[in-house]
Amino acid sequence: MTAQPATGADYALTSGTRIYADPGAEGVAQYLAGVLRPATGYPLPVQAGPGTGISLLLTGTDPNPEGYQLDVTSSKVVLRARTAAGLFQGVQTLRQLLPAKVESPTAQPGPWPVAGGHVVDRPRYAYRGAMLDVARHFRPVADVKRYIDEVARYKINHLHLHLTDDQGWRLVINSWPRLATYGGSTQVGGGPGGYYTQADYTAIVAYAAARHITVVPEVDMPGHINAALASYAELNCDGKAPPLYTGVEVGFSSLCVDKELTYRFVEDVVAELAALTPGPYLHLGGDEATSTTPADYARFVNRVQAIAQAHGKTVLGWHDVVNATPLPTTVAQYWGTETSHAKVAAATKKGTKLIMSPASKAYLDMKYTSSTPLGQDWAGLIEVKTSYNWNPGAFLSGVDPSAVHGIEAPIWTETLASQRDIEYMAFPRLAALAELGWSPWSTHDWNTFKVRLGAQGPRWKAAGVTYYRSPQVPWATS
Ligand code: ACM
Repeated sequence: MTAQPATGADYALTSGTRIYADPGAEGVAQYLAGVLRPATGYPLPVQAGPGTGISLLLTGTDPNPEGYQLDVTSSKVVLRARTAAGLFQGVQTLRQLLPAKVESPTAQPGPWPVAGGHVVDRPRYAYRGAMLDVARHFRPVADVKRYIDEVARYKINHLHLHLTDDQGWRLVINSWPRLATYGGSTQVGGGPGGYYTQADYTAIVAYAAARHITVVPEVDMPGHINAALASYAELNCDGKAPPLYTGVEVGFSSLCVDKELTYRFVEDVVAELAALTPGPYLHLGGDEATSTTPADYARFVNRVQAIAQAHGKTVLGWHDVVNATPLPTTVAQYWGTETSHAKVAAATKKGTKLIMSPASKAYLDMKYTSSTPLGQDWAGLIEVKTSYNWNPGAFLSGVDPSAVHGIEAPIWTETLASQRDIEYMAFPRLAALAELGWSPWSTHDWNTFKVRLGAQGPRWKAAGVTYYRSPQVPWATS
């Protein structure tokens, strides 16, 4: 990234400002207007260019599809990219150049200067993800949309939804309706749970797509599957359905690897999920299958990978899938706490690409300190600096940096029962992890980053986002 501030060259956003969009950029322009209107109270009409207001142009030449160039002078704001996705990421930078109160949902007094200067910027990684576990505690559609908006600010471009686990199945599958209606009827602690209709899921996918975020749905198997086993007795090896589960143990459930019905079940689920999901990935879980023998695990994973591939999807799996035979296209999500893993490293030598989510750095449900009221600590305590101070491209020994396709920040919800809880654990760490995904390692510097991070405090406050006021961060006051 090149960022050259220009003092005295601020652009003044006023009631007369117009947003000009190239053909193909109207969606991003409407999004920008939607972001700016509530706090400014200005009409900010979107129209075809050219004109001298804020221009969103598809004339960029950055080799990276998400690269953009932003020029702010006293007379105009010009954002250029090659794709709408690039313009969208540039819009997130433009937001950061306005006063923090621009994030307020209600009208605020001006003025509204956009800091003058020249920015050339592009991402380090193509995959920058956030994961939300809606299985342990269900989150309604409105909360998922809210999280999408919160992570879009930091140029996250994938939302991984952990849709199924022992405690709940959260998406209607028409061919197996009891998965949702029964398997989705509770959650950790015994609350009412919930599930998404296929229309709900489609609405989430569309909302995310309008923010250039690709939804990656996860159906976890062969373990983490009690909700499905409870819903259909015939999926169990002994033909007996276990009770619904509302605890927090892991590793006790498994699909019946020797039953042909198991593969019809997977085929039906994958077929519906693939049809509902425009993005390239289906996440098939594969973690902590400790109730399945290694041989059965490999047989099962190999077979279900082929099912997903037959439906035109690329398989993502937790890195445990390297214990099977990953397809050449399968992407493994590293969630270990250690900096070496021989089998994962060996898989990358054969072409497996990695998404990096080491639990000791990237798990947003770990406590910040021993006195954090929420969260877990099995992967360690993760203060903000810890979440920032690691290099996704060099974390795992014996893994070439080119094997790393991206980074993801998962949030597991065993202990997180509300959106407030989720936000408190996600922020500010999600911003630190997003920075690792976006910015080149050459600019990595805690001392400068922590100041930029501190500037987010007033923005979260204005937006009504709950966050942890880490003592490691010099929080700005406005
Ligand atoms: C995991 O944390 N079991 C992926």
